[in-house]
Amino acid sequence: MRQNYLRIFDTTLRDGEQSPGASLTSAEKLEIARSLARLGVDIIEAGFPAASPDDLEAVRRIAVEVGNPTPGNNGLYGQTPVICGLARANKHDIDAAWQAVQYAAHPCIHTFLATSPIHMEYKLHMSPETVLERVRDMVSYAHSFCQDIEFSPEDAARSDPEFLYRVLAVAIAAGATTLNIPDTVGYSTPEEFGALISGIIANTEGIEKAVVSTHCHNDLGLATANTIAGIKAGARQVEVTINGIGERAGNTSLEEVVMTLHTRRSMFGLETGVDTTQITRVSRMVSNYTGIPVQPNKAVVGANAFAHEAGIHQDGMLKHQSTYEIMRPETVGISKSRLVMGKHSGRHALKVHLQELGYELSDEELAVAFESYKKLADKKKEVTDADLEALIGDQVSLSEEVFSLDGLQVTCGTMGMPTASVRLLGPDGAMHVQAAVGTGPVHAVYKAIDAIVGVENNLVEFNIHAVTDGIDAQGEVTVRLMAQNGGTHHRTSPQSEALISKTYGGYGADTDIVVASAKAYLAALNKVLISRGQKSEKEEMQAVLMTA
Ligand code: KIV
Ligand code: ZN
Repeated sequence: MRQNYLRIFDTTLRDGEQSPGASLTSAEKLEIARSLARLGVDIIEAGFPAASPDDLEAVRRIAVEVGNPTPGNNGLYGQTPVICGLARANKHDIDAAWQAVQYAAHPCIHTFLATSPIHMEYKLHMSPETVLERVRDMVSYAHSFCQDIEFSPEDAARSDPEFLYRVLAVAIAAGATTLNIPDTVGYSTPEEFGALISGIIANTEGIEKAVVSTHCHNDLGLATANTIAGIKAGARQVEVTINGIGERAGNTSLEEVVMTLHTRRSMFGLETGVDTTQITRVSRMVSNYTGIPVQPNKAVVGANAFAHEAGIHQDGMLKHQSTYEIMRPETVGISKSRLVMGKHSGRHALKVHLQELGYELSDEELAVAFESYKKLADKKKEVTDADLEALIGDQVSLSEEVFSLDGLQVTCGTMGMPTASVRLLGPDGAMHVQAAVGTGPVHAVYKAIDAIVGVENNLVEFNIHAVTDGIDAQGEVTVRLMAQNGGTHHRTSPQSEALISKTYGGYGADTDIVVASAKAYLAALNKVLISRGQKSEKEEMQAVLMTA
């Protein structure tokens, strides 16, 4: 590997998906993986295949469809990304990971075992010697399937460095090609983390045969600083997520590290394969699909990150751009309301434009997109890139439907009771109609939908914002909800093995914000139904009673 090349390992679909509240359908995971490939990341950690058959299948699909060279899934330098699956250090998990990733042109198994005294004693109940033995056995077991093996000593930042050097040497001797050093609980500071990486490079036997990687969590807000310290100390891979999502306070964010290296390139002298102009697009996609909003003041991708253009610094900006701007918005892919297409543009023009934006649609998908595009172009004079992205997001969100929105009408305002009538097409092919009164139009619509779909839930997040400037803008809505009646609605963290309450995200876009709200809610409810095998609460109860 070139010494001045920094590998970008994206774990949005694994550690990112462990975020409280992030849960993605396999269609959404695939779409994100395609976008990550186009962004130019080197490695996509596509999931934790041992978690469930669905997780395994989602990773397998990504390995097949994104992990092989086809037009449109190559990074800036034309590489096909490595597809990686996570496995605890046991044969069952490693088998599952291999089952999923083997279909990729460049598969990788990532296995991990904790090495800190606190984890070894209280979580693993293993002595240091047993840990060494398990690492040797499981890394060589994984290596019997796959050439590319990453090993992580979990909680490395709180491990005894001397013990760490021994564990890592054993992993290298057993076939590990990447040694990933996690600050699992986000405890380290930049000086400490840099020293940890230097110590590993200086003291681990066989280290020249492996790439050293960083994996920092953001519990103290130091993830990016720690990662940068790791790079300065010689790490040549970083594990990151889009928007910094991940367990608890999240992981190091891809966009912060990449833009630091880009903006301060004379200081670092390192290159990555990332096409920075894709950053904003992927950030929006991840936020929309996970239902996790990006804070407005978030570095690089927050709504205010470039807002000084219209703010108090404008005079300075006009005198010279560099007075207040260290990065150009275009560098991260913020296009200023580019007029892309008019009402009369044809299907071919739409296809070509979507390809330029990174979307490869099948003929059927294109037909649906074209219909939505025509409707939108009838309502809006200018259809911009952001509008098209929202339209495709809406389509992906609706691609796994049980109930679909057929019609909706609301009455609201100051003169009466907010009332909604909703018509949904059900899985049985029948039309279902309900009306409801609420505290406002969205509440009334949601009550009417509830009366049809029958999934008891708590709405834990509702966000709405305009896709573009302008009074005729589309609104996009993201929701997250928690379904009641636990059971199948929990999943397990591969690390703590704690049950994570699963929340379901939904996304909808429309020029009518009540319609966008209905679409987003329905998308989330459909995810609940799909995860239950498409049964409504009533049907599930009936099934339970019948088997009792
Ligand atoms: O934070 C962590 O330690 C992890 C490991 C599985 C690498 O996510
Ligand atoms: Zn992690």
